[in-house]
Amino acid sequence: MATEDTYALCRCGRSAAKPLCDGTHREIGFREAGPGAEPRPAGDGGTTEKGRKA
Ligand code: FES
Repeated sequence: MATEDTYALCRCGRSAAKPLCDGTHREIGFREAGPGAEPRPAGDGGTTEKGRKA
């Protein structure tokens, strides 16, 4: 059975392979903003949109 390839979009903003994730988020300590999480300011490597999913 054939399956589709899986791609991950970069949400931390630091990938060298944008728009795809290259794993840099692990090196910079990026953590996904979830429900109830404090939004981080732009330029902090995070998202300013609460609860946004890629
Ligand atoms: S989310 Fe940006 S490098 Fe993985």
